Amino acid sequence: MPGDGIGPEVAAATVRAVDATGVAIEWDRVELSGEVIERTRQSVPDSVIESLNRTRVGLKGPVTTPVAGGFQSVNVALRKKFDLFANVRPVRSLAGIKTRFQDVAVDMVIFRENTEDLYSGLEHEVVTDVVTSLKVITRTASTRIAKYAFEYARRNGRKKVTAIHKANIMKLGDGLFLRCCRETAELYPEILYKELIVDNASMQMVMRPETFDLLLLPNLYGDIVSDLAAGLVGGLGLVPGANMGESHAVFEAVHGSAPDIAGKGIANPTALMQSAVMMLLYLGERDAANRLQNAISKVYAEGKTVTADIGGTATTDQFTDAVIAAL
Ligand code: NAI
Repeated sequence: MPGDGIGPEVAAATVRAVDATGVAIEWDRVELSGEVIERTRQSVPDSVIESLNRTRVGLKGPVTTPVAGGFQSVNVALRKKFDLFANVRPVRSLAGIKTRFQDVAVDMVIFRENTEDLYSGLEHEVVTDVVTSLKVITRTASTRIAKYAFEYARRNGRKKVTAIHKANIMKLGDGLFLRCCRETAELYPEILYKELIVDNASMQMVMRPETFDLLLLPNLYGDIVSDLAAGLVGGLGLVPGANMGESHAVFEAVHGSAPDIAGKGIANPTALMQSAVMMLLYLGERDAANRLQNAISKVYAEGKTVTADIGGTATTDQFTDAVIAAL
């Protein structure tokens, strides 16, 4: 699903890089864009549903969502449709990239609940100029994402999970989320469990990013904190993600459709390429995944062929050519 905005550019680059690893992937291309949603009047087009039902694995570019009106977010609709409940976003420093946090090795993984919270889309104008937006928090979804994070920690030898909340104010909603995290933590005594209020967590992430390991958050805080974390390692052009369900998985970058640079051929395809690395690992293609990740790292370590967001002058295609040469 190449998406729209810079989506088709970074998707073409990523497909080229994945194919260059030699892995035998048969790509099924389906259109998922603001334009097709408006035309078909379906929040997730039938062609996308049919394709994902068949393949169960997707690589997705960003899709534009109209602000303050218009159609429902296709991203939210897709995550709900396939019950892609865990949004997993590894944020790591890459050698060679100049950031304000140069001397700090950032290596955190964000686990964002992906199906409810304020993204339930339940809003209501009670009377003129008075609106309520429903924040939905359930035991099922909160425990499910908590388990997912702790299982990941156990499987990958990670040491600490920090649950992030605002349960001092939203005592019932965030309180329930927190209770589910605590109960789950008790099942994993070998993993250190901490809690932080979201405003303090934001400050700590900027001051001491190296102290974070795995972060566990409800949907909205997870969304915001992901972009903050991306800023620590060099920006949205870099950070990958995965939307994981019981039976389906869709891999996509954290960034959006970047209308300010769309069509110029200068977008950084690294975030989607690293999402493809996650996809290859999920598919059991460990060798191809490692080779692609190493090639990306090598291009950054050399620092000669990087895109404008990282301070270079390379186009999307030139960066991709460099990655393929490094392969
Ligand atoms: P954005 O992530 O598209 O862009 C924010 C800033 O980061 C812009 O200055 C952009 O140029 C830059 N940027 C993002 N990705 C980049 C890349 N790969 N290379 C170089 N620079 C990059 O966020 P924004 O502008 O808030 O949202 C634009 C649209 O994207 C909105 O319609 C939003 O709803 C949608 N969106 C879609 C997502 C998805 O499909 N998963 C996720 C986030 C936003």
